[in-house]
Amino acid sequence: MRGRFIVLEGGDGSGKTTLAQTLAAALAADGQSVVATREPGGTPAGQALRALLLAADGPAFEPETELLLMTAARVQHVRQVIAPALARGAIVVCDRFVGSTLAYQGSGAGLDTARILALHRDFADDLWPDVTLLLDLPPELALARGRARLAASAANEGRFEARGLSFHARVRAGFLALARALPGWTVLDATQPADALLATARASLGA
Ligand code: TYD
Repeated sequence: MRGRFIVLEGGDGSGKTTLAQTLAAALAADGQSVVATREPGGTPAGQALRALLLAADGPAFEPETELLLMTAARVQHVRQVIAPALARGAIVVCDRFVGSTLAYQGSGAGLDTARILALHRDFADDLWPDVTLLLDLPPELALARGRARLAASAANEGRFEARGLSFHARVRAGFLALARALPGWTVLDATQPADALLATARASLGA
């Protein structure tokens, strides 16, 4: 029996990472087999690519390079972690997936959606989430939260937060368009407190 593939999407600082952790813990406490993971990352190769991609002081990438590296990390993740977990019947809770590539490299950086979808089909086994929860927040609020969190942490991951408000506004609009166009997407109001957000997320999963 195939498990369930749940993905959380949203802008930087939308509270997605907190929700991914609390949701995975709540499902596990109910006795379900849960694999909590994230992108870019989720495998040793994916972590190495994450460090390269997100470092605020890293090399300047062309948008196409960024797309290929994000996709490379996803191929590793799908083959080595996500597909095997789903095959054993586990619930996979993943912080970001191909929706982020469509929103950031597509809507944000202007790459053609058809090319992103073709890469996903050809190299990432055309795997799509069963359910996607989109944490929606005005980018002004989300960026302030994200930058405060980065300033307080030791992680050198500020590359995307450093992009301007208009980039993040395009990312948000891209995510909302995906939620309208793709099956299984639910938009959650990310201005809610974390416990209310978890309750809404569980209700929309029926879990
Ligand atoms: P993440 O650590 O989830 O950021 P945050 O916790 O701030 O939401 O994601 C790292 C960054 O990588 C984020 O700014 C979005 C970007 N990203 C892409 O541009 N394309 C992708 O395909 C993925 C998975 C992430």
